[in-house]
Amino acid sequence: MSNQQNYTFGDSERAIERLAWLAEVFAPTSTRLLDGLSKVDGGALDLGCGPGYTTELIHQRLAPTWTIGLDASARMVELARARTQLPLQFIERDVTALPFPAAPAALIYARFLLTHLTAPAQRLRDWAAGLAPGGRLVLEETAFMRSEYPAFQSYYAHVQALQAHYGQNMLIGAHMAELCQAAGYAQIDAKVAERPVPAAQMARLHAANLPTWSQDPFARATFDAKHLHELTEELLEIAAGRLSAPPVSVGSGYVIATRA
Ligand SMILES: C[S@@+](CC[C@H](N)C(=O)[O-])C[C@H]1O[C@@H](n2cnc3c(N)ncnc32)[C@H](O)[C@@H]1O
Repeated sequence: MSNQQNYTFGDSERAIERLAWLAEVFAPTSTRLLDGLSKVDGGALDLGCGPGYTTELIHQRLAPTWTIGLDASARMVELARARTQLPLQFIERDVTALPFPAAPAALIYARFLLTHLTAPAQRLRDWAAGLAPGGRLVLEETAFMRSEYPAFQSYYAHVQALQAHYGQNMLIGAHMAELCQAAGYAQIDAKVAERPVPAAQMARLHAANLPTWSQDPFARATFDAKHLHELTEELLEIAAGRLSAPPVSVGSGYVIATRA
């Protein structure tokens, strides 16, 4: 990936399966957001589309004239193409490299991507060039994840430190509105909504992710491998329902903006 981007969550089979679970957990929030938008008069780009769940939602809910998912991972793109029955296009592309194919688009959407990019303000400024006049930028990211339970707290502290090392922000959903404004967009709407997500669902997502990011060079050099192993085991126990933990309070943030 260009611009020294470092996606630490990988594209292994486990990472791909995790994205299916992620899509299940966040389908209600994303569907509600998209259903609140007027139909797209033109084409739509789904940046960092992964296996294409969000790309499908955009097509189904907003009926763009064309819908293209872009992802830097060849495996994700291949899987998205194989999975979908819908008339979508998926292209292998690092979204920090411009121009976007088929641009300008009437909608540029990205879910759980900005959190993985360094220099997000610069990325947002660049993406404006791919947006048609009057087109909308729609971003969804996590603003907070709160739990009293030590295993979750430890998991979040580690991921936050790892992402911060690469100039990324695990909780960028709390800052998107100001980032968009600084990047020259005019805000149409922005919100952070809290929702309790069952601990087992969150633990399943995290336990699937931990073995991937713990192999990152910074993680290996900085974190205690034994602690991470025990943390994975504990998260698996919570995921399986053998350990009980209170729901995780998840803050989902969105921004809808247009070129100023
Ligand atoms: C957490 S997943 C989210 C997938 C999808 N948006 C969703 O919400 O289901 C992040 C995706 O962004 C992709 N990605 C990360 N950095 C990227 C970049 N610089 N350019 C394009 N895709 C990128 C990864 O390959 C991965 O598929």
